[in-house]
Amino acid sequence: MRKLSLIILLAAAFARCSGSGAPQCTPYDAKKTLTDEKMEWFDDAKLGIFIHWGIYAVDGVGESWSFFNKHISHKDYMAQAERFTASRYEPEEWADLIARSGAKYTVITSKHHDGVALWDTRADKKSIPELSPACRDVLTPFVDAVKAKGLKLGLYYSLIDWSHPDYPNYERDGVPRYEIPEDPARWQKFLDFDNAQLNELIEAYNPDLWWFDGDWEQSAETWKAGELTAKLRKRNPKVIINSRIQGYGDYGTPEIGVPVVRPADRYWELCYTINDSWGFQHRDVNFKSPMMVLKTLVDCISNGGNLLLDIGPREDGTIPAEEVEVLEELGRWTGKHAEAVYGTRAGIPGEHVKAYTSVNSTADILYIYLTYKPVGPIEIKGLVDNIKRIRVVGDGRELKWKVYNKLSWTDVPGLVEIDVPESALDSAITVLAVETDGPIRLYRGSGQVMTMGN
Ligand code: GLC
Repeated sequence: MRKLSLIILLAAAFARCSGSGAPQCTPYDAKKTLTDEKMEWFDDAKLGIFIHWGIYAVDGVGESWSFFNKHISHKDYMAQAERFTASRYEPEEWADLIARSGAKYTVITSKHHDGVALWDTRADKKSIPELSPACRDVLTPFVDAVKAKGLKLGLYYSLIDWSHPDYPNYERDGVPRYEIPEDPARWQKFLDFDNAQLNELIEAYNPDLWWFDGDWEQSAETWKAGELTAKLRKRNPKVIINSRIQGYGDYGTPEIGVPVVRPADRYWELCYTINDSWGFQHRDVNFKSPMMVLKTLVDCISNGGNLLLDIGPREDGTIPAEEVEVLEELGRWTGKHAEAVYGTRAGIPGEHVKAYTSVNSTADILYIYLTYKPVGPIEIKGLVDNIKRIRVVGDGRELKWKVYNKLSWTDVPGLVEIDVPESALDSAITVLAVETDGPIRLYRGSGQVMTMGN
């Protein structure tokens, strides 16, 4: 239904633009604006919280990569499991914090490339319940808490397992255990193992989203990626799968580096650390401020994507205060500005407003995110539509605006100037809602000679 009404609106927008003598304008690209039913919750969510939790938090070494890159021996790496306690682990508090941040979904590392499972896997001995003094499945209580909060559940699962005897590679530039073409039966044994673990996870948790990782080590054919994804989709036709499965996923996953140019993927999610590490690392204190993270969230929103923000709990289950602070501020801001976060779509080209922007799903509200304190009025160029109202989101007050350069004898739109009083500013990012009399149309011309009309 929502899909149909959007098509009608877009068609109407196009019709209104294409009349002769009308200014050049950019109606929304239908392909970019319509949402597959399956992807709807994801597209609307905008914020998710990623959790990297594993034995690497004990000594604060890089998750899995520290032994792969030979910074630590595999033996010493695995020995961290003997000191992984989960002694102050409160899964309900984790879920509560995630919900308070305004995130609509969470993705947790059920198993990283080191192969240590957080749950009680029957397919392997490498798990927190088997190897650590925590002595219990630490995944199930979190999943229960996430579901109780009404959040969507994503499971990160590493396709590669560098500790498994049937997985070929295990260290950088090392001699592999074997070559797959020379021993396909052994490789099949490994695939059966991955499949057995995935079956356990499906049976126990039936996640809304699979977040695969590590596909780069083998081709789609070697992973049997087509077969695997078909199985997951058959089991749950609504399941969403990230892109890290050699071309078989639903959405792109740029990592840490914030996209400068809008990603080509219709759906995408920036996975992002708060300091410079995925898992907990004692020495890494390069935490971003809440304001920096908020700006990145708004950047993702304005480019039509999601932010999957990572936290790295300690081995005992506590979450570093700097990370809690970021999530709390996200919660304050997303709560106040909910209408300019959830369900929004990518904004208009930057030439029109010197700020991040987005639009509502019917494209008749333009949201402008002020990440700087304005000096003087905010300017919009090339907006064809008439403005009905401009308000401050989460504040309710209406703002005055003036239009300059609107000549009666041309269709070239005027310059809109909006006054934003200092008292209306948010402590972080202020959002203006510009309501128009129809789906937004933009003048994209480079100017013209204004012959005098009547
Ligand atoms: C990378 C890394 C991994 C991390 C992941 C999160 O692929 O291999 O350590 O968990 O990205 O995006």
